[in-house]
Amino acid sequence: MIPKLELNKPAPIAIGPEAQSFTRGTDVASTLEALKQGESVVVRGAYGSGVTLLKELHTDLKLSLPHKSLPEQRAYRAEYFSLSNRILLEITDQELVVKKAPAIGWLKELYSDHDHFYLSFPQVQGLNSAWQWYERGVSLPVLRAKLHPYFGVYFPTRFEHLVLFEQWLKDYKGPKKTAIDVGVGCGVLSLQMIQKRWQKVYATDTNPNAIVGLTKFMGTTKLARKIKLDLGHLFGRWNTPTELIVFNPPWLPETHDAGTIDRAIYYDKFLFPEFFAEAKKRLLPDGKLVLMFSNLAQITKVTTEHPIETELAEGSRFKLEQCFKKPVGAASGKTKRDQHWRSVEEVELWVLTHR
Ligand SMILES: C[S@@+](CC[C@H](N)C(=O)[O-])C[C@H]1O[C@@H](n2cnc3c(N)ncnc32)[C@H](O)[C@@H]1O
Repeated sequence: MIPKLELNKPAPIAIGPEAQSFTRGTDVASTLEALKQGESVVVRGAYGSGVTLLKELHTDLKLSLPHKSLPEQRAYRAEYFSLSNRILLEITDQELVVKKAPAIGWLKELYSDHDHFYLSFPQVQGLNSAWQWYERGVSLPVLRAKLHPYFGVYFPTRFEHLVLFEQWLKDYKGPKKTAIDVGVGCGVLSLQMIQKRWQKVYATDTNPNAIVGLTKFMGTTKLARKIKLDLGHLFGRWNTPTELIVFNPPWLPETHDAGTIDRAIYYDKFLFPEFFAEAKKRLLPDGKLVLMFSNLAQITKVTTEHPIETELAEGSRFKLEQCFKKPVGAASGKTKRDQHWRSVEEVELWVLTHR
């Protein structure tokens, strides 16, 4: 059964009668001026007019704002973000009203109880590209079937850590009755375990979209009996000890206190100490605790701290059994600066046992 959860999605926007319209032939300069004055502008006519307006906004800001140094680029992006999100599209009966608009299934899926509202143009573009990923699916080298990532759910775009886990699962000789997957996301680690004949996986996530997305993905197949889901922090309602606990946590410490921080990417200072304390209670005496991590935060100089090394150094709870590392291949299309640190980036698979 699909749980009725409040999903993460761009909030519907309501506008007043004074909002301006933009369509082919509307004066661009006065439209940009209205945006700068804090007004909303609704794109009418064809979807392409909105694309044109966004381009014009870029051109205008490039001429008026410096964007050389890093702080200047950050300020430029913030201004572009703020102004572009005042460009709106109207949605009626879960469809974009403008002509020649892409068909975006998320509008029906996520906004079934909203008949008339607005979203910003960048939000619609985000929904559109997420819909393309979902429809096409994503092939992962470690899974037989494609994944179809649900809106707003983290899914892997690089696979080295999954390959390390696959290798470890292949070599694992212990019992395979139950495992816990903390932060299941799109489900890849749980699916890898099931492929390797684990009987049951108890999974959690704090993101409702992950729980709903995976429930829909599994449908009424055998998988739904093997992977049990709970919306909850860390272990959620899974209290019974298991022979394997797996966690691919966020890899970067949060550096600012924003309300909308992405919990798939950034961890707070409580996450790891709490995780290890709770994992201690839920790992069977001969069980394995497997964590994926990376040296990304260290090589980009965000922190010198490594939360798993800290636990091992300070904690009386776990000891290290094995640690596997794998260099990350340079992603294509990245800037030279990125490639510099990518050449030393490594993903890590940590296997811990009770001390
Ligand atoms: C890096 S993603 C990994 C997702 C998936 N396991 C994978 O390997 O692709 C981290 C996941 O942990 C979830 N998460 C973050 N904090 C959490 C918490 N306190 N309790 C449960 N899940 C959490 C995020 O929502 C996200 O889905």
